[in-house]
Parts: sequence; C-alpha cells; structure tokens
Amino acid sequence: MSINIAVLASGRGSNLEAILDSIAAGKLDAKVQLVLVNVPGAGAIDIANKHGVRTAVVPNAGLSRKEHEEKVVAELKKHDLDFVVLAGYMRVLSSAFLANFKDPRGFFKVINIHPSLLPAFPGIRGYEEAFEYGVKIAGVTVHLVDEKVDHGPILAQATFRREADDTIESFKARGLKIEHELFPEVLQNIAKDGVKYFKRLKDDNTEAQIKEGTDRETARR
Ligand code: GRF
Repeated sequence: MSINIAVLASGRGSNLEAILDSIAAGKLDAKVQLVLVNVPGAGAIDIANKHGVRTAVVPNAGLSRKEHEEKVVAELKKHDLDFVVLAGYMRVLSSAFLANFKDPRGFFKVINIHPSLLPAFPGIRGYEEAFEYGVKIAGVTVHLVDEKVDHGPILAQATFRREADDTIESFKARGLKIEHELFPEVLQNIAKDGVKYFKRLKDDNTEAQIKEGTDRETARR
C-alpha cells in the first residue's frame, strides 16, 4: 500500500530529493504530504517546490522547545500521515512530540537517517567523528526514533569501506550516496510490509537482548 509521509528537514535536503525522485521513478509507493523545515531558506524548500510538494516553515528561533513542537505538530496534524520522516532535521524531539505518533505496538511512527553505524557516533558529526576515529568500515543507519538522541530500533544499516586515500569529503560523499539509496529502500519496504518491529525487552541491557534473541516481534502494521 502507499504510505503518506511528512518529511522534516533543516538543510540542504538531498535525502528529501532522493525520496521524491524515487517516488517519481515509481520505486517508492509513498506520497509526501508535507515538507516542513525549521530553518527559513533551507534547500529542502526549493526541492519540495520543484516537486510540487506542499511546504511549511516553522522557525524555532525565539521559541521554547514546547512552543516550537506544538506548532510543528499542528502543521503535521493537518495531514493524514502514516509516518514522519526526519531527513536532516536538526532538532531533538521530546516525548510529548513523539506521543502524537505512537503506534499501538509501542513504537513511534517517526523514522530517522543517521550518518553512522549506530550506536557508534550519535550526534551531529557522524561522518566526521567516524573518520577522525579511523574506522575502517563506516555506514549509515535508518531507525525508528525514540526519546533518546539518534537511538531507537534499527530498521536498516548499510556499510562502506574507508579507503586509504579518503579525505573527509570523499568519505562523506560515499556515505551520502548510500544514504540516498538506503532511505527510499527502507521506506518502500515499510510501504510494502509495514514496520517489522523488534521490541527490546530491557533497553540498554545487551545481555538480556542476547538471551531473549528469539523474542522478535514481527507482527505487521
Ligand atoms: C545526512 O547526512 C543525514 O544522515 C543527517 O543529516 C544529513 C542531511 O543531509 N541526519 P540532507 O539535508 O538530506 O542533504
């Protein structure tokens, strides 16, 4: 089935573009109901306009997190959404925000892409920190969002090698290209099969997770 999504962005919008291009190419069965940005003039707005997608600009400057989130939620609630997709949205979402998008199975219908193999290198410098650390294998993660930053059930990861002659620029460019393939792919899997949700019994308790490795919830939407 087709999924209705809103895309939240703060910057350039290359992931948004990859999603919109995939939809246009018939590879992703989704409709972007709204592109919402918190930074006036963000590139994502031009990309949305080019694709004829409705946009909203909700600047956070001068507002408390609560005030800003309430405005964002009000915009999102104007649409019949299956998922909220974060594509370079540089704001941490509070539990009050997330509560608006709770699935009965217990997860939030909010999906993020992060430029590292989580749980390594959360935060806003994923590629830079991985590169500086000297990783040999890097990657990107698409995950369901929870109350913690760059945290939550992992939907998919893709890896790439750091080459000996990589600069941070070539490293990032290779990663970004992978993001542009992975994100639409994951969304298409969800459109087709729903979210395959793996509920962790005890958060942050690796031993329990390993022991309970069979406790996988694969129920569908
Ligand atoms: C991407 O690297 C994404 O993984 C991260 O922020 C960046 C956004 O880039 N969360 P763009 O705006 O999609 O071009």
